[in-house]
This record gives sequence, structure tokens and C-alpha cells, in this order.
Amino acid sequence: MRDAYEVIVVGSGVAGLSVALGLAGRRRVALVTSGEFAGGSTRWAQGGLAAAIGADDRPALHAEDTVIAGVGACDHDAVAVLTDGAAPGLVGLLDLGADFDRDAEGHLALTREGGHHRRRVVHAGGDATGAEVSRVLAAAVRDAPIDVITADVTDLLLSSSTYRPQVTGVIADGVELTARAVVLATGGVGGLYPVTTNPAEVAGEGLGLALRAGASLVDVEFVQFHPTALAVDGIAGQIPLVTEALRGEGAVLIDGGGARIMADVHPLADLAPRDVVARRIDQVRATGDRVFLDATRITDLCDRFPTVIAACGRYGVDPIVSPIPVAPAQHYLCGGIRTDLWGATDVAGLYAVGEVAATGVHGANRLASNSLIEGAVFARRLADRLASALPQRRAAGDAVAAPSAAAGDVAAIQRAMASGAGIRRSAQQLAVSRRAITALPSSDRALAADAILAAAAAREESRGCHWREDFPTTDATFQRHVVVRLGADGRCEAAVAGDLERTA
Ligand code: SIN
Repeated sequence: MRDAYEVIVVGSGVAGLSVALGLAGRRRVALVTSGEFAGGSTRWAQGGLAAAIGADDRPALHAEDTVIAGVGACDHDAVAVLTDGAAPGLVGLLDLGADFDRDAEGHLALTREGGHHRRRVVHAGGDATGAEVSRVLAAAVRDAPIDVITADVTDLLLSSSTYRPQVTGVIADGVELTARAVVLATGGVGGLYPVTTNPAEVAGEGLGLALRAGASLVDVEFVQFHPTALAVDGIAGQIPLVTEALRGEGAVLIDGGGARIMADVHPLADLAPRDVVARRIDQVRATGDRVFLDATRITDLCDRFPTVIAACGRYGVDPIVSPIPVAPAQHYLCGGIRTDLWGATDVAGLYAVGEVAATGVHGANRLASNSLIEGAVFARRLADRLASALPQRRAAGDAVAAPSAAAGDVAAIQRAMASGAGIRRSAQQLAVSRRAITALPSSDRALAADAILAAAAAREESRGCHWREDFPTTDATFQRHVVVRLGADGRCEAAVAGDLERTA
């Protein structure tokens, strides 16, 4: 059976919902989502949405913090698109009815998170911002002329009728759905790791689909680990986040003896960028010590952070009276499918937005609370682009098939990623992990894992959230992107490419 759409959007997080909504009534659009509608990573986001709306703030300052956090690897044009578009993006969500928290005067309440020099993080329900963003977007999509289809997208349809291949649709639960444009908004790679703050079913499938269609990935070695996930015995899979906004409100990181661990490490101390804090916690834990987040001095903890309080409570931890045990956990993929500033990949008919895409905003380390807003801002641009022009219609071609990952493979992938592509990396361990992945049956998850390992091996320096024990310094001569493509042998090939900062 075939059905013809103008645009098919794959994924129902902030980016997928936003792009579908932006196209509703302008194009015949289907949104294909696996599992639960609006059930991906977005609704788990606690912290918020960064936007320079405070009286002491401006987009250029937000851009400056984004670029500093990105350690020389951000695309400045992309950063400007984000920071200039953040306030209008917020207004778009408010227009849909988003109930963001307000101060006593009725203004949007702003907090700080790591790497921000201003209070500019808008939040909802205290620490349930993603749930609110997801709620309003999902409700609007349900009311809009959008076909919502619950199915797994296993393949892209690729027309080979011209010398330049073009994506012409998807195979969803075995059914061919054709379209003039396919937008991947499939999220990140949390499920490739044994411990993540994301739903475990979000595991890099979008990267595999894109690679098999001939698209390139960029910056995928930059896997961000959130410094503070709940660390209690036996916890694994998707584990509760302990939001960075707690540190914005005064919580501090301490070791098992009660000494502060960030005070002498960075001028911003506990609010240093995420990669710095995650590495420091990892270092302390490597000595056999434990790390805690002491939030006991925050007076309105229950009202302001109900999600954290409830999650800790489920594991017998009461943050009101005792410090919270924390450890880093995989959190976000800073790179992804290479796109231009309007979401186009290097394959005709294929677009990407949200965490699966690499717009160039995040560089080597994403600034806190830049992800939900990036999804909203870039989705709106992509919707406008696709509303004004679509690729030529082509006959649907053959699907490029790959089997899906078996459950046993998932555990093997997670083991390989934890030992090879964790916070600390080395050539030797990356090679061992790549061999383990190559021995597995081919799958999109295995391809995504291979891409990250290959890119991490190619970047022979340390930068942002890519930390090489064998190349421990940031190398100014290594101001280059690492691009990954699928080779003829079905393995990923990583190559060091053009300048990191196109407009610097
Ligand atoms: C957090 O609440 O700490 C996470 C926010 C983010 O990842 O941007």
C-alpha cells in the first residue's frame, strides 16, 4: 500500500511536533512516531528554554555563552539564528498556551544553569519544562490537519532514477509512505549507553537511516554527559536527572567528606559548563569517592523542584535533609546529521531537525537549556522553507534495507559504548569497541555507535565533551569538523574536514 504526502516528519519530540505544526494547513503532512505519541526525550527535560529576555541580557550575550561552552567548535551563524530566534520561539509556545513559571510581578521567571552568565532559563512546573512544552505542542498537533501515524520507520525510500539520489518516502511498519520531503526528528542516542537520562528506546536510529541514505554526519564524537544524574545502587537504563537549575539556585557539589569539588576548578565553580563539571565528578569518583549535590539550603525546594523531589523519593533519597548522590550519565548528542541553517541534509529530499541534526549551534559542548529552544527555532525555519518550496517529485525508488537490532545486540552495543565512547576515551579502547560493534549484525543502532566511535578515534585532541586520555589537550591546529559517511564495506568512515568556525 502507498500513500502520498508532501512532507513526512519522523518523530514527535519538540522538533518533530513543531515542524509538523508549522506545516499544517500549508502542506499535506504526516507525522510518524514510534511508540507513544510525544513520548521521546522532550517531555523528560527538566531545566528549561534559554532566551535572552532579562533586562540585563541580549541575544549577543547568550551567543557568547553558547560559543564559550562550545569550545571553538560552534558555527557562529547557527548560534545567531538560535539566540535571535529564542524569544520569538518562546512567544510561539506561549501562544499555544504554554504555562511557564512567573515571578511575583507576573513576568516569566528566569533561572541560571551551567555556562550562563545571566539568568535566562525559562521553566515550567518548576522542573517539568519538557512536559509542558510537549503537552501544548501535542495538543496543537492533534487539533491540526496532520495525519499522526504510530509506526516504526525502518527504512527510507531512495530514488535512484537520477545520478543524484533523492529520498522519496519511508517504510513505516512495512508500509511504503511516499513524500517529496522527509524530515528526521528522531532524537539522540541515549539508548546506545547503559545509563542515560533519555528514554532507552531513543538509540540513534535516525543517524543510521541517514547514513544508509548517503547523508553525512558531523561532530558526533561530541556526546554530552549530564554531570548530575541520580546515582543509587543498581540503577541503570533511563535514570532520573537532577537538574542543573538546582545549582543555578545555589546547590553545590561535594565529595563524600563534604568538601566542595568545583570551587577551585573553574571561575563559574558549580555553574561551569557541563563538560567541565562532568569530568570533575568523573575524576573524583575514579578515586573511589562519591559525589553529592547538596541542595539542602534551597528553601523552596519542594515547590521549585517537584520532579527531582519525587524521583529521589522513589529511591529513598530526601534532598530536603540530605545531599543527593549523583554521577554523570549520557544526556545529549551535540553533533548529528549535517544540515544547513534551514535543515537540509546533503541528500535531496532529506531534512533533519532537533537533537538528530547538527546545525552547528552546539559545537563541542551544548550550553544548558539550548536544546528545546533549538528544536523550536530550527523547526519553524524548516517548516517555512518546506512551505515555500519542495524538491521535485520523483518516482519512489528502492528501500535501503537493514535489519533492526536484536535485544542481545543492544546490550553489546551499550557495553562497547560505555567502555569506548564514555567521558574518558583512548585510541586503544576506541579500537576495541569498534571491533565489538563490527562483529554485531548490521543495524541502525550499530551504525550510529560505529559512527560515534569512528569520529572519536579521528579527533586526536580533547575538546568540550570529547576527552582523549592519549591526547589530553585542545589542539588549535585541530580546528576541524569530523565528518562521517558510510563506506562501501558498510562501516563508517570518519574524516577530518573543513574549518570548525565557518564565520569566525
Ligand atoms: C537540566 O535540567 O539540567 C538539563 C537541561 C538541559 O539539558 O539543557
